[in-house]
Amino acid sequence: MIEHVVQAAREAGAILRGGFGRIHEIQEKGRTTDLVTETDKASERFLREWISSRFPDHAMIGEEEENIARPDAEWTWVFDPLDGTVSFAYGIPFFAVCVAVRHRGTTVAGAVYEPLRDEMFAAARGEGATLNGSPIRVTATTELNRALLATGFPYSIAENPKRTLETFVAVAPFARGIRRLGTAGIDLAYVACGRLDGYWESFLQPWDCAAGALLVEEAGGRMTDYVGNRHDIFGLQTLATNGRIHEELMARLKVGQVP
Ligand code: IPD
Ligand code: CA
Ligand code: CA
Repeated sequence: MIEHVVQAAREAGAILRGGFGRIHEIQEKGRTTDLVTETDKASERFLREWISSRFPDHAMIGEEEENIARPDAEWTWVFDPLDGTVSFAYGIPFFAVCVAVRHRGTTVAGAVYEPLRDEMFAAARGEGATLNGSPIRVTATTELNRALLATGFPYSIAENPKRTLETFVAVAPFARGIRRLGTAGIDLAYVACGRLDGYWESFLQPWDCAAGALLVEEAGGRMTDYVGNRHDIFGLQTLATNGRIHEELMARLKVGQVP
């Protein structure tokens, strides 16, 4: 499956590259914070057709079209056709496409592709993670005060600012630095390849984190919620680290439990 996942991500990435910097049709999806462009839709349409023409029995969970529940399906593709839409819409050159395949509820293959730098992060369960075909590993950093982290803010931040902003305030004074890259897929890919030591975010959607979570695990990192439970792509919290700073960062994220 990994070869299919990589191919689909690469072809969808070409659509993103082609649409970047052109005049956009930008719409709001209910909130002024949550945008969609014609390129998100074109990439989603492409991925749905690509998958259904090759794997008609497989279910799909994508961000921009209605997802038909298929509880009987053995295989499910989970994809974000454009991760980093707000950056894309503003002409900021940092976005990706995320594609994952799950077999009976376990992600078995995933790819995050950054088309402008032509960086393909890919992983197959039990077989490690790669960047453009070369193996990648998480960092060896052991202390939070020497860790470079990333986080993100959900579009619903105004409805529930506490969980997001309090975690930021709780972590920021204790880390080497914090980045807000604007794409959860790349945040996770960067933990996997050692450009970041850790990343956390609340309220991600399955398409934001399915591929990236497998990358981190296969690169030797750890994926949980904020209290150490196994990471769930349908859950509310994502904590990804190199494993070594996990407990220390988790202790800081306790405030994230505030409802
Ligand atoms: C968003 C990005 C962002 C994260 C948001 C996501 P989108 O995805 O990954 O970094 O902070 O939570 O919704 O809308 O650009 O696909
Ligand atoms: Ca996303
Ligand atoms: Ca998206």
